[in-house]
Amino acid sequence: MAGALREHLVAYFEENHKLLEAGALQLLLSDRQPLALSRELLARAGEASPFVTREMVEEILARRHAPTARSEPLSPGLAASSSARRAAVPFELLCEGFTGPPVASQPIAAYEALFQSRFRALARMLRGRPDLPNLRPIRELRASEGLSSVIGMVREVRETPQRHHIILTVDDETGSLEMLVPKDSPGSRVTFLSDEVVGLTLAFSKEAGRIPRVTHVERPDVPSTRAMGRASAPRRAMFLSDLHIGSRSFLSESWAHLVEFLRGRGPQADLAASIDHVVIAGDLVDGIGIYPRQERDLAITDVLEQYSELGRRLAELPDRLTIVAIPGNHDAVSPAEPQPSLPLNLAALLPTNVHSLSNPSTFSLSGVVIEAYHGRSFDDLIPALPGASYARPTEVMKRMLQMRHLAPIYGDRTPLAPLPHDGLVIDPAPDILVTGHAHTYGVDRYRGVLLLNASTWQSETEYQRMRNISPVPARAAVVDLETLRLVTLDFSAGRPTLGGSEA
Ligand SMILES: [Fe+2]
Repeated sequence: MAGALREHLVAYFEENHKLLEAGALQLLLSDRQPLALSRELLARAGEASPFVTREMVEEILARRHAPTARSEPLSPGLAASSSARRAAVPFELLCEGFTGPPVASQPIAAYEALFQSRFRALARMLRGRPDLPNLRPIRELRASEGLSSVIGMVREVRETPQRHHIILTVDDETGSLEMLVPKDSPGSRVTFLSDEVVGLTLAFSKEAGRIPRVTHVERPDVPSTRAMGRASAPRRAMFLSDLHIGSRSFLSESWAHLVEFLRGRGPQADLAASIDHVVIAGDLVDGIGIYPRQERDLAITDVLEQYSELGRRLAELPDRLTIVAIPGNHDAVSPAEPQPSLPLNLAALLPTNVHSLSNPSTFSLSGVVIEAYHGRSFDDLIPALPGASYARPTEVMKRMLQMRHLAPIYGDRTPLAPLPHDGLVIDPAPDILVTGHAHTYGVDRYRGVLLLNASTWQSETEYQRMRNISPVPARAAVVDLETLRLVTLDFSAGRPTLGGSEA
């Protein structure tokens, strides 16, 4: 376990063109959130030296422990984490998307800091790529140089009225630039989304006054080859989402069968006994006042009572399980993303084997790196991407990985929290990306990453009927952490049956 994390950290720094000294690695491994610390290190290390030293780690840790630092432990259990404990416990928190409330008092300054953080994190992934030759800040571009490259955040995408070429406006930290992406060119095949960060190779025309033409588009993406995390034994994790406890449509009968299965009372007892972890990707309860006239759909109308009931339901599962739960847009935390973990008074209603984390969060289960995100941004990405639909959420998840961002679009249906660190950047690339929100079930793979949209335990509501969402409920994905092979269990008709979506 600790060995897997060690390899992962070394690979992560290599991917970012840095060499990690042994002393620095040792300190990183003993930190509560080694990947959050690694990212901070990379952000501060700059490009002057390729080495990351122990002193550099110590400097950041010293700053953290200064009275102004905002690094509050989420739960006493996690805070007590050490490398020795990690080796014994197969759950490891790597980093949470929510890093504390906004610090800037002016909203404009706070959002500026957020977008700067996004730009820097994603630009770091793109820098140094051979397909982005002669990389320049926008202000230093020279038309006379012919072929140049820039890294920019997409500000505007429009089409020329007659020929339907794309006119793209991108910003970097030095300025903004308009460019032409010819219709039918390879770069125009993937829709540009607002606020995503892309690398662009530009050809300048010899004619004065003409905007440059894009000859190549490079997205941050997941490396096509990299070291993947794998468990050293065939232990398994189960992935669930969108329980919606408190809703009249909560599928209590299917849930009862899930409990029976996990307790080993059924034909799949061996499979059940191999499951160590359960991950729940948000919408733990149905909440209150989430959509118009929701009260008609509620069986429990008090939010505290909904979480008490959630606690009772989770306590029905065997207490040997490690349960990881993040909130969703129905949960009683700020809706702006990244969302914090449940407040202590609600988390206290859950069994002690539940790790309540922020949305999104990255953690490791027996060495396999998992990013769990509820998926609210489907509401923005599906309308923005031609051909995308709630029925095929994993297609949208591939696009998230290509952008290395979970929710790039600002100002639409997904509220973004103006935090100084953009916790929605996908960093590191996970071995498993799990979402919910779509209330459907999807399994796919992209460049070695297992993509899961983890169903729901709520049947169709009136509101979903109105929005034309047909749920695929009561599915549980069971993943072997040694091989990442997956079995789908379908509880929709009672006792579990092996579903068809095996990958
Ligand atoms: Fe939901």
